[in-house]
Amino acid sequence: MLEVLNLSLSVSIQGNRVDAVSGVSLALEAGRVLGLVGESGCGKSLTAQAILRLGEFQGVAKSSGDILIDGESLFTMSDERLRRTRGGRIAMIFQEPMTALNPVFSIGSQIIEVIRLHLDMDKQQARQRAIDLLLDVGMQDAEQILKQYPDSLSGGMRQRVLIAMAMAADPDYIIADEPTTALDVSVQKRIIALLLNLQKKRGLGLLLVTHDFGLVAEMCDDVAVMYAGQIVESGPVKEIFDHPAHPYTRALMGCRPEVSETGGALAVIAGQVPPPGQWPCGCHFAPRCSGADELCSATVAADVWRDHSHIARCVHVGSK
Ligand SMILES: Nc1ncnc2c1ncn2[C@@H]1O[C@H](COP(=O)(O)OP(=O)(O)OP(=O)(O)O)[C@@H](O)[C@H]1O
Ligand SMILES: [Mg+2]
Repeated sequence: MLEVLNLSLSVSIQGNRVDAVSGVSLALEAGRVLGLVGESGCGKSLTAQAILRLGEFQGVAKSSGDILIDGESLFTMSDERLRRTRGGRIAMIFQEPMTALNPVFSIGSQIIEVIRLHLDMDKQQARQRAIDLLLDVGMQDAEQILKQYPDSLSGGMRQRVLIAMAMAADPDYIIADEPTTALDVSVQKRIIALLLNLQKKRGLGLLLVTHDFGLVAEMCDDVAVMYAGQIVESGPVKEIFDHPAHPYTRALMGCRPEVSETGGALAVIAGQVPPPGQWPCGCHFAPRCSGADELCSATVAADVWRDHSHIARCVHVGSK
């Protein structure tokens, strides 16, 4: 199990350190897909990157909390163990495949490098594994692809290569940060189907970061809804879809094209997500919430348990 426990992360804005993620808890189990959903700027990528301790390179620091993989803290493990964990036990698939691939090396040499970094294989064995991985992600002419360079592939093909690379060391968990937003809609569907297929076949725990609630409905077992640095609601997808409790979740669900009253055009929630350092007192969503009253801006809502797994953070949950 991969657990994020009460994690807060700070960033530096105009010389001040402010929290950009506040008290986030998530649990990702093997064989399950957890969606992390919210509008742009809510802190989804910061949270996802923290799971690999990647944000630290960009000045992001942990202010409190912990991240545990099978009970072991990522923050106290040795550098060598962290290096083996990254890619070996937890792999990441990024939004923009071109930035994650090196343009000056062939696809083959990049996949083989990842394999040999994590698995005890000679060059020939690693090459064969690279071919198998490319076949696994639906690239039939795998031998040919090995010789090619990233810029000779389409966006969808590059994303398949990145998925193959993420699978290279047989990880237990995959963190996919908006893995398809840079792609055409038809390609998106195929990549998502591929990812789900691999997740099921290998029994992976998959954290899928997205701003698309429709995708959550299609793909995920569980969902965590994030707003302005906090998880405002979480639980099994079916439960949340049938009984969304937090006004922000309901608003996001109303933005799905199939339910939008604007006839297909994407509805939006009026106003904007406040950036770190400008979060309001009390409930972060209150200024944009049609049901908000004085209590909302005066109180920091505690988590309310709707049932054993469904949590919502709204002072009016249960009373409205
Ligand atoms: N290294 C950084 N230094 C300062 N501020 C940062 C840093 N990284 C992120 N932020 C800020 O933290 C907030 C959350 O960023 P994050 O990238 O996690 O959002 P997100 O939910 O992934 O959004 P998107 O859907 O656009 O990818 C944003 O306001 C962003 O500007
Ligand atoms: Mg992001």
